[in-house]
Amino acid sequence: AANIIQDRLSRPMRDLRISVTDRCNFRCAYCMPKDIFGDDYAFLPKESLLSWDEIARLAGLYAKLGVRKIRLTGGEPLMRRGLPDLIRMLKGIPGIEDIGCTTNGLLLGKQAQSLYDAGLRRLNVSLDALDPELFGAMNGRGIQPAIILRHIEQAREIGFQVKVNMVVQKGVNDREIVPMAGYCKSEGITLRFIEFMDVGNENGWNLGRVVTKREIFERLGGDATLQPVCPDHPGEVAQRYRYTDGRAEVGFISSVSEAFCSACSRVRLSSDGNMYACLFASAGFDLRALLRAGASDDELLAAIISVWEKREDRYSEERTEHMASHRKKIGMSYIGG
Ligand code: GTP
Ligand code: 5AD
Ligand code: SF4
Ligand code: SF4
Repeated sequence: AANIIQDRLSRPMRDLRISVTDRCNFRCAYCMPKDIFGDDYAFLPKESLLSWDEIARLAGLYAKLGVRKIRLTGGEPLMRRGLPDLIRMLKGIPGIEDIGCTTNGLLLGKQAQSLYDAGLRRLNVSLDALDPELFGAMNGRGIQPAIILRHIEQAREIGFQVKVNMVVQKGVNDREIVPMAGYCKSEGITLRFIEFMDVGNENGWNLGRVVTKREIFERLGGDATLQPVCPDHPGEVAQRYRYTDGRAEVGFISSVSEAFCSACSRVRLSSDGNMYACLFASAGFDLRALLRAGASDDELLAAIISVWEKREDRYSEERTEHMASHRKKIGMSYIGG
């Protein structure tokens, strides 16, 4: 039976973001800076990671509490072997209506077909620049944008719905706003501009590096160029617009200038089985310990309910520059955005 729960701000739980690995083959400075994530960085050992069976069991319980959408993230989710097997398991859960995956696209060339065959239909591909030198520097590994663009094209030919995510940082890649928009518009790809956030503890964030939705909107030509589109579900993170002279859409994820916490129905599960009530939480709840101690479904449900019913997080609405630099937060590559 439906057992819809609400947090202290009357928000239901509808979206589950599952990180399947803390590893990544990129080293974006704002997420996994090289001087911290070097050759000797201690990633989670394999036995710490939830197995697919454990993830699917928890996802089934979340679905009983109202979750309808699942998003697979990382680190880089395609770096974990056997992801199509997990997708098949999640597809079979009653109540789950939508599964998406957020990836940097590097491994899509090899994996897109098997992910599609497993039932995945939606991919959000991160791409911060089209300029080869700039993109190579931003991803920290010299990876060329042409590779990612080719993989996006292949995925679309297979039948995927693909959106592109661009994190905009002032003085770093804001000159790529117009070229990225032009490229995606001509290809009919939805591009989403993401305001640079203060995720993690060492990502060099300050307000001066944020390019706001308003600024980007004006640089694209403003109201004359873009008309708003209704959100397709409550609590959607992106505000959507359609070009007045075409069918392509763009989106803005304005988590800094216009926070969307009041409708936030997202819950997060880290690859080692911690439940987080907010992207900016400083502590999680250890579901893996319960799972591995042999907890029953009812015991696990009770734990999840009690975390959610205590939830009052609304970090992006409360954020100040002072908080951004003084609060201890979880790493972006660990929790998956
Ligand atoms: P769709 O289902 O396609 O709309 O996916 P999504 O936009 O929810 O997920 P995606 O992984 O593509 O995230 C896009 C951006 O939104 C990333 O920068 C995320 O960090 C950010 N984001 C997603 N959820 C939240 C949230 O709850 N709070 C904040 N502050 N940012 C979020
Ligand atoms: N601010 C905003 N978005 C970020 N992402 C990673 N770090 C940040 C940040 N500091 C994005 C990634 C990916 C998504 C999961 O989160 O580029 O598209
Ligand atoms: Fe990897 Fe994405 Fe983090 Fe870049 S932002 S280091 S691609 S997880
Ligand atoms: Fe939700 Fe926290 Fe993001 Fe606000 S900051 S939208 S509460 S995850």
